[in-house]
Amino acid sequence: MESDIPHTIVEDLERSSDLSPPRLDPARADFADAVLAGFARKPRSLPCRFFYDARGSALFEEITQLPEYYPTRAETALLETYGEEIAERMGDARVLVEFGSGSSRKTSLLLSALHRVSVYVPIDVAGESLAEAAEWLSERHDGLAIRPLVADFTKTRTLPIVARRPKLGFFSGSTIGNLTHAEARGFLVNAAHLLGRDASFLIGVDLKKDPAILIPAYNDKRGVTAAFNLNLLERINRELDGDIDLDLFAHDAVYDGIEGRIEMLLVSLASQTVRVLGRAFRFAKGERIHTENSHKYSIEEFQALARAAGWTPAHAWTDADRLFSLHLLRLA
Ligand code: TRP
Repeated sequence: MESDIPHTIVEDLERSSDLSPPRLDPARADFADAVLAGFARKPRSLPCRFFYDARGSALFEEITQLPEYYPTRAETALLETYGEEIAERMGDARVLVEFGSGSSRKTSLLLSALHRVSVYVPIDVAGESLAEAAEWLSERHDGLAIRPLVADFTKTRTLPIVARRPKLGFFSGSTIGNLTHAEARGFLVNAAHLLGRDASFLIGVDLKKDPAILIPAYNDKRGVTAAFNLNLLERINRELDGDIDLDLFAHDAVYDGIEGRIEMLLVSLASQTVRVLGRAFRFAKGERIHTENSHKYSIEEFQALARAAGWTPAHAWTDADRLFSLHLLRLA
């Protein structure tokens, strides 16, 4: 007969033969800590790195193909147009290190132009996407050695290979905009240490522009971005014993002109109590959970940030509509 003992308790009993106390696996514990802390503070917030479970990664791929979401198209076009020029300007790099590599589709364009690169190190928290991306890329780039690293790229302190060959960093999709200015600067300082002497760094950065273009990019007609944002709550239900009613939260995106950023929000549509891992959290009607920032930079603002982190801006490319920018930085 099936026992009525809750699953987690069965696991605890099964594990009681080893001497360590029962606990959540590290990834789940990390998620649990972040959600419990984020729901306990006011205003409430959740860190955006938890968007990218298997479903979140798939939804994000869909976002990148939406008519309203211009950044992926604009950045891809820049890589197609200026790939050779980027290769000429970036020096002698043999190793390409990509931060937050996702599906690596844009990387293939870059690799086609970078004839000397023989090792590719993609770093991403989404392990499944990484494995898929590695397979997809290895079919297209003969002889490329791929050394994936499943990690939070803001916390990466060492690379899997310690080769002394010059490295090129690649940080696309304006993911740097998802960090605060202080975090972005810290990330750039860390990346300089990680990439080392003679490194170059190619970074895609979304430009400041009319909010009438910006806002729909984060609040599309078909509701894919809404589903992506709400998936965070579904993930809490799935992984952390949550009882959140998804019909009682709505996606919203606003532009804060002073901070120069899009803010992604989940808005409580009712006065309600939600439970996560046995803890109760009261939400007022209209109360917001801040789930993501997407900072926008002018060319000059980004170059100033890069300089403050010890990098020298070498070149910046933009499209005719000034939607997006690609920055090449160098270590002196
Ligand atoms: N780096 C992307 C950006 O800021 C991430 C992103 C795009 C995103 N759309 C999103 C994150 C929607 C959360 C929700 O543009």
